[in-house]
Parts: sequence; C-alpha cells; structure tokens
Amino acid sequence: MARSYDIAVIPGDGTGPEVVAEGIKVLEAVAAVEDIRFDFTHFDFGGERYLRTGEILPETASEELRKYHAIYLGAIGHPDVKPGILEKGILLRLRFELDQYINLRPVKLYPNVETPLKDKGPGHIDYVVVRENSGGVYTGAGGITMKGTPHEVAVQEMIYNRFQVERCLRYAFAFTRKRNKRKTLALVGKTNVLTYVFDLWERVFHEIGENEFPDIKREYYHVDATCMWMVKNPEWFDVLVTENMFGDIITDLGAITQGGMGIAAGGNINPGGVSMFEPIGGSAPKYTGMNIINPLAAIASAQMMMETLGEDRAAARIEGGIVKALQNDIKSLAAGMMGMGTTQVGDRVAEYASA
Ligand code: IPM
Ligand code: MN
Repeated sequence: MARSYDIAVIPGDGTGPEVVAEGIKVLEAVAAVEDIRFDFTHFDFGGERYLRTGEILPETASEELRKYHAIYLGAIGHPDVKPGILEKGILLRLRFELDQYINLRPVKLYPNVETPLKDKGPGHIDYVVVRENSGGVYTGAGGITMKGTPHEVAVQEMIYNRFQVERCLRYAFAFTRKRNKRKTLALVGKTNVLTYVFDLWERVFHEIGENEFPDIKREYYHVDATCMWMVKNPEWFDVLVTENMFGDIITDLGAITQGGMGIAAGGNINPGGVSMFEPIGGSAPKYTGMNIINPLAAIASAQMMMETLGEDRAAARIEGGIVKALQNDIKSLAAGMMGMGTTQVGDRVAEYASA
C-alpha cells in the first residue's frame, strides 16, 4: 500500500505560489514512481489575505496545521504591508506555536553552479547550519521608553534558557553523527562579548558533547570569524550550530556561496512534531507572474521535506533531478537568466527525478 502524507501548503506572497507549484509538480512525479501518495491542502495565509480581511493569521491556524505531516511554504512578504507584520504574524508565529526549534540550512554547491568564492568548487562547499529557531532576540522581549525624546532607550534582549540550548545542541550533535561526514560540530558564538548567553551555550556544548557524543569532534568559532572562514575556507566545515540571529545572518552568506537565493532551502524543524519547509529567499514581488523566478530552492525544500519524513529514496531522486537539470538545462540561477521559464525548470527536474 502506498505511504500517504497530508501536506499543508502555504504558497504565500509574490512568487511563492509559482515556486511552490513546481515543488508540488516534482513531488507528484516522484510519488508516482515511489509508491507515495500526497494529499495537498492549500491555505491562503499571506499579504493578500491580510489586506483583504485584516486578519494576519486565524487563531486556529497552528491547531489546524498540526494535523498535517508537514507544511510546505512559499514565501511571506508583501510590498504593501509594513515590514515586520507578516514576518512576525505568520512566519515567526508559526515557528513558535509549532515549536519548530531548529532551522536546518544546508549550504551545498552543486556542479555547474557559479559561486562568488574564488577557486572553490563543489568539493569545498558542503556543510549544514543548524540554527536555533525559537529563542534569542527573536523572543521579542524589550521595548522603547521615552520614545521621541533625546533620552529614548531601546532594548531588545537575547534570551536563552538551558532547555532551549540543550535541545538545540542535542539535535545538532545527533545530526552530525547521522550525517557521518567529518563528525565535526562547530559551535558558532561570541564568547568574548556575549559572556552570559555564550557562557551557557559553551558549557552545555561541551557537557553534552563529552557525555553523550564522544565520537563527535567539537570546535568553536566566533561568529565574526566564521563569516571570514565561510568565504576563505568553507571546506573546514561539516556542521555548524548557532543561536537564532547569528544563524539568520550567516545562512544568507552561506546561501550566496552556494549560488544564491535561487537554490537555498531550509527546514523549520520540530523533531517531534510538524515541520515547515521553505525556500529561504523572499517573495521577490517584482518577478511575480512572469515565469522567470527560479524554483530550485523550493524544490530543494521539498527534498528536505522528504528527508525529514524518512522518504530517503524520494529525497535522493529530487536531489538527482536538481543536479541533472543544473548539468543539462539551466544556464544561470538568477531570475530571468535561467535560459528557461519557472515551469520548464520544474518540468525538467520532475522528469529526471522520476526517471
Ligand atoms: C529567515 C528570514 C526570517 C528570519 C524573517 C523573514 C523573519 O530572514 O527565515 O531567514 O529572520 O528568520
Ligand atoms: Mn534570514
């Protein structure tokens, strides 16, 4: 009997619906040859809905989404909505309410993809960033007092408790073990300035490493230096683990080294619950409806979804399809420069992935 998955789809804003449609196309093609069945249910959360109804996200959204095996998200962000409203009200709220406490972001350069890093190729750029996805400054604690006066004070606090740090590090260690590449986990921090938060992270890192993962080698880098090494010596890295905002920043740098937002995928993971997969680039509203946006990042997110659901063969098929399309068909990853349209890229990958 076919293995069956209920997938909640949030196409979202801008080019989100276009790239998600290609991801679904590829998933359907792979399902047909792997004895998998998908049931996709679409949700219209995003900027359009907010402008139309005034509601950012229904109260019951996360309760409803919890019923699915996974969530497939296009992009959130609308040019007519003030920055922060949709991001906080949809994306961050779902991450929090569904307790997706890991943001998994592979940085992998595929053959035939141009990287801005000099003298680096696919053999050099292949690591994974485990970004803590529930705490830090994203907690939202803080405020402004005496606003508008010369004395105004703005505070935004980086908050972590041991529970959050432990579960993130445990996940990262286990992930490093499972990845089985160089069995090296690097903690990325700022122990020289953030002497409270990273004191906690560093102590827990060595505690858990020593007691539970003695087979995993431990390294530590300051976050600023990490940016430097990601450019100069990316081949050093196997798995990096870091707090939320540092992870946000370094994964944009990582993305550009693997060819840019056209290919960078991510998963918001709740290891015991429902995870949400998304291309990490934005909604790119100016390209909406032109059939020129690159769907590979969304397709690669679908691959991550398959991995997380334990459908390793389906995941390998999708990755193989991406690699083949890059080899044979796609000229450049940039929107409008692919030498083919969004839907054609989806067609090619779907065809290769199901061959
Ligand atoms: C990301 C994004 C989000 C984040 C924004 C849109 C809230 O930049 O997923 O990396 O900061 O996490
Ligand atoms: Mn980001």
